[in-house]
Amino acid sequence: MMQKALLARVLALKLLLAVLFTPAVQASDALGPAGAGIIPFSLDVEPITPLPLQVPVDAAKRALGQALFFDQRFSASADRSCGDCHALPAISPDQLPASVLTGERRGQYSRDMTLLYNVASSFWYNRDGRYAKLERLIEDSISDVDKFNSRWPDVIVRLARGYQVQANKAYGTDLTQAVIVDALATFVRSLNAPNAAFDRYLRGDPDALSPRQREGYALFKRIGCSSCHNGRAMGGGFFSQFYIYRHLDAGLNPRLKDFGRYYVTGEGSDRNSFRVSSLRNVAVTAPYFHDGSAETLVEAITLMANYQLGLLLTPSETALLVEFLGSLTGNHPGIQPNGVTQ
Ligand code: HEC
Ligand code: HEC
Repeated sequence: MMQKALLARVLALKLLLAVLFTPAVQASDALGPAGAGIIPFSLDVEPITPLPLQVPVDAAKRALGQALFFDQRFSASADRSCGDCHALPAISPDQLPASVLTGERRGQYSRDMTLLYNVASSFWYNRDGRYAKLERLIEDSISDVDKFNSRWPDVIVRLARGYQVQANKAYGTDLTQAVIVDALATFVRSLNAPNAAFDRYLRGDPDALSPRQREGYALFKRIGCSSCHNGRAMGGGFFSQFYIYRHLDAGLNPRLKDFGRYYVTGEGSDRNSFRVSSLRNVAVTAPYFHDGSAETLVEAITLMANYQLGLLLTPSETALLVEFLGSLTGNHPGIQPNGVTQ
């Protein structure tokens, strides 16, 4: 073991020396024309990348998934669909900042709902990151007592009527658990809400953001919001303790009731830690945090700066951040239970 560790250290040192003393020209040659997958470190690299304009999915599988998403026969009492909890409203960049999440059963569940648009850009699902695979989350929702409280064999019997033609067309087989799960996952992955003003800015149009929004983005990077909220989803990549810079008395603060990631890993250090939220569409998805405890963006930003970064922002700095976050709303025409887009 010791020898192995030593060898690893020598190799690491060799690599460091090679990087330090390789002439720049040779280094860039080594990257090849397309960079060969290596991202050269530069302070100019944006911490956030735009969402793709289109997500290629199989149309027949997606159509089956969409029909299943709104089918209430997943629940034993046939009165609840995925779509009843996860509303898919129309959103657009010129929408006023307000909540558009109006799923019928919102509020009956202990954690605040997330809007499913762009969810597949996160690396972990659920606020505690219980799932790394969408398929596993969907499989488990069926037996979850808070969701459908059903059994897969019963669900397949209840759904079989009505979907055989579509299942055969999309998958070449009858409706099975694997077909249902894959079709639903395909549908969820297709829920892309692209082309927010900020995406257009990242693609090279500086005027897509107002001067104040650009200032807000610079502030977002300067004070360190982007150290956690980064990547395509502006979050969703890892977990962080809520309240890094402020110790809260566990007995007194209702926000500490939910142990978050601890439920998944059982590690003491994960207590009260949550997935860094994606900030995509954040202006239209109030309330905020895992427990929906912040009603407005001003409130959420103030808490974040204070607890996650140890900063007290001035009202005008907070206002700049609100304006910047307003540029993250993408476009989606919305999908109604009867299958039509709004
Ligand atoms: C009773 C309401 C309810 C039903 C029914 C339901 N969900 Fe959810 N779903 C939730 C809640 C609440 C969460 C967030 C849980 C958390 O973060 O811990 C969630 C999380 C998710 C997520 C992950 C969201 C994220 O931000 O990571 C996906 C994807 C999802 N549900 C898809 C589905 C699909 C597909 C169905 C149907 C098979 C379904 N849900 C049925 C309430 C529901
Ligand atoms: C140390 C990591 C970290 C830093 C730094 C950070 N955040 Fe967060 N942010 C999180 C986590 C974790 C959550 C989810 C908390 C929860 O679910 O209760 C979150 C949630 C949010 C939310 C709520 C999103 C929603 O839909 O519920 C907003 C808004 C937000 N952050 C904005 C910011 C801003 C603005 C800054 C800079 C002032 C910032 N964050 C800095 C980790 C961080």
